[in-house]
Formats: sequence, structure tokens, C-alpha cells
Amino acid sequence: MPQNTFCFHCIGCDSITSTASQDFRCSRCGNLLEITDAAWKSGTLDAAALKSVWRDRRSSNAILDRSGVWRFRELLPTPASEQQVVTLREGNTPLYELPQTARLTGVPRLFAKHQGMNPTGSFKDTGMTVAATFARQAGYRWVACASTGNTSASMAAYAARAGMRSLVLVPDGKISWSKLSQALDYGALTCQLRTDFDGCLRLLQELVRRAPVYQLNSINPFRLEGQKTLALELLEQLDWQPPDHIIVPGGNLGNSSAIGKALREMREIVLISHLPKLSVIQAEGANALVRTMREADGKRLISVQAETRATAIRIGNPASWEKAVKVLQATGGACEQVSELEIAQAKAEIGAEGIGCEPASAVTLAGLKKLLRQDFVKPEETVVLILTGNLLKDPDFTMDFHRGSLFAGGAHESENSKLEQYRHPPVVLDPTLEAVIATLDQAEKSDRTHSNA
Ligand code: F0G
Repeated sequence: MPQNTFCFHCIGCDSITSTASQDFRCSRCGNLLEITDAAWKSGTLDAAALKSVWRDRRSSNAILDRSGVWRFRELLPTPASEQQVVTLREGNTPLYELPQTARLTGVPRLFAKHQGMNPTGSFKDTGMTVAATFARQAGYRWVACASTGNTSASMAAYAARAGMRSLVLVPDGKISWSKLSQALDYGALTCQLRTDFDGCLRLLQELVRRAPVYQLNSINPFRLEGQKTLALELLEQLDWQPPDHIIVPGGNLGNSSAIGKALREMREIVLISHLPKLSVIQAEGANALVRTMREADGKRLISVQAETRATAIRIGNPASWEKAVKVLQATGGACEQVSELEIAQAKAEIGAEGIGCEPASAVTLAGLKKLLRQDFVKPEETVVLILTGNLLKDPDFTMDFHRGSLFAGGAHESENSKLEQYRHPPVVLDPTLEAVIATLDQAEKSDRTHSNA
């Protein structure tokens, strides 16, 4: 594997360094670092040749080629040798059409890129393969993260594959059992801290200065390099015709930063001719970026006390906000917020397509509906929703939704009835043929009533 020479670029003061400190911040101005590569800048990459090599690798059985991340290694930092790569065959995720949702929204060219189909069930795996590779190469015994659940599940899996130990800091009682159970199974040392995600991340920042642990949050620029491949793979699936819009959920804002960086680089090396608009959607109760854009014109972060049932994005003080602001400005994307009710409804609609996703991913569809009403997205445009996590990541949300208890006792209880038509609660019956047939008849009648309505 040819080694790509890379260095670190500060997004604040533009200084370039060959090494990065433990907190991945610029030693001069304290802003975040990103990775930059000499080859992209010197214009030595040929777009047509890259497209052809990447396509050919899809029929290869070589380990690196079978990873949907390392298949694009010309645009990634690469380790000293191929043997150092830690991979679980991440990436290679499907781009689905959404026929029912397309009819519902009136957008015929509507797609979902499902990152929940990654090995641990979320988009985090595409970044983790790169960051874990460099952590192992640097000789770390411990890797660590603060997480709302998915990062910890992914980090724990890749650390286990790499023979490293992992330390997970999660907010006690605020992440789904399914994500927590993944970290446990993959052997992480898991600390449930009596605080929120932002508190966990603050503590981690202090920890990495005191203990020899390698930080694997999305502040780590190697993670964002891997996450760039979502956009490369998407454009390849669209035969390199950029969609008009890409819509992504926003939490700590690493993913929007990574996708934005990929789009910028793709345009620089002329893999694409123009940029799609990248829009970021947040939950109303965790809307730091929305407020930052509206109330401070993207110039200073407005933090919030985050609250949402979409626990993956329950983040009030996003670390990569400045990177995300630059992406919104460069691509002309929108930044919107959606309510808890809108999230629940959108999740049910994506579920009804037979693919499903976790609540945080459903903000994309809820956001699309809002952007259509604002005329920011036009029905004739091509739209791609990024589904970040698998349906199975948050079964409690789904069960509460179908049983009608999602908003019970809360501020949204009165609006609960609007979601009635989307519910499919389980039916408890006596074990008789008559009971099952009667239930079947009733369902058939109700289907007919709905289709005539
Ligand atoms: N969707 C899901 C399913 C997530 O798990 C996250 C973030 C996001 C969207 C937001 O992405 O932070 O890059 O803006 N989850 C992190 C975690 C914070 O710890 O798992 P972002």
C-alpha cells in the first residue's frame, strides 16, 4: 500500500504541523485540526483513474478492497503497512430508494444512504477503522471516548479487533440499552457518569492530558477522514452526479464536517463538478447549531441544555461546530430543527419502507418536510437522507411508540393522537385459531377503511 503523506491543518489560524497533540487542537490558537494531504494539493490525482480503480476494487477479495472505507485509500491517511489496518469490512452501505416516502413528500428522486448497515449498526464504523488503525500504530494500549452510545459501541468493537483496551464514558441512564450492551460485549471498561454527554466529553478532554489514553471522539481528525468515505461511496452510487441536497442529523457535528470535507476534496480533484447543498437537522431540544446560525450568524457557539428522546443527538455543546458552520456556508445548506413528534412520525414512515432507522436518523426526513414547506428544497430536486443508525439501536423508543407511551405524561401527550395511524402495537391473544382469524379480519377491515379514506 503506498503511504500517503499527511499533515495537520488548523481550521482557525491555518497553521500546518506534522504532529498533533493529544487533544487534537492547534497549539497556537486552540482550534480544531483537520488532516490534509500533500498529493491532493499538488494535483497529482487523476479523477478518471481513481473512479476506475475504486470500481475495480469492488470485485476484489483483498482485505483492504473489501472495506468500503479503505477502498478509497487514495484520499485517506494510510498507515506504514497494510497489516496495521483494523477493519470489520465497514462501509459498502446501501443507497435505498424510498418509494412511499417519495409519494408522501412529493419528491420522486428521494434516496436514503443507510449507514446503519455498518458492522456495529452506525456510521461511526467508517471513522473508527481509520482512527483505531492509527491508535494501534502509535502503540496505545488504551483508547477512550465519551458517547451517546454509538461511538462507544463502535470504538469497543474496533479496539477489541486491534487488541487494545477501551474506556467508555457515557451519561448514566441516557443511552439505549442496546448500544450499552454492545460496548459491554466487546469488552469495554464502561463508566456510566452521572452527567450528560457534554459532561462526559469535558471529563475526557481532561483525562487525555493526564493519562496515556488515545481519544477516539470525532474531534480526532482520523475519524473524520474515514467518515468522508460515506460521501465518496454515495457519489459513486449516483454515478458521480451530485444530488441537489444531502440531509444529515447534527449532534457533535463531526459527521457533517466529514461529509463537507469529502465534498470539498471531491470538487478540488474534479471527481464532481459542483457541490450538493449539505443541510444539518437537529432536534428542537438539542439545537445548538440552529441557534448558533440564527442568533450569532455562525460566529460563536450558543450552547444549550440538551433534551430529546433521540438520545444519540442529545448534545448541547457540539465540539465541531466551527467545522460545521464552514460546511453550511461552503455548500449553501440549511440548518433546521424538528420536534419530538415530527421525529417519531418520520421514524415510523421510514420503518414503513421496510428499512427502519433509529430516532436520530429520522430527523432527516422530518427536516426534509420542513425544508420543502420553506421552498428551500424543490420537489423536482434529488435528495439524499443520511440514515446514521440501525432501527435495532433503540428498541425502547420503537416499543414505546407503538404501545402509545412514547410521550406519556410529557409535554407532547396531547398531540400523541396524531400518531395513532402509524402504530402497530402487538396484540395479546388466547392461543386459538378463532382468535387469530378474528384479528386478521379486523386488520383487513381497518386496512380497507384506510385505503378508502
Ligand atoms: N446519528 C446517530 C445515530 C448518532 O449516533 C450521532 C452521534 C449522530 C447522528 C450525530 O452525529 O455527532 O457527528 O453530528 N453520536 C455520537 C455518539 C455523539 O457518541 O455515538 P455527529
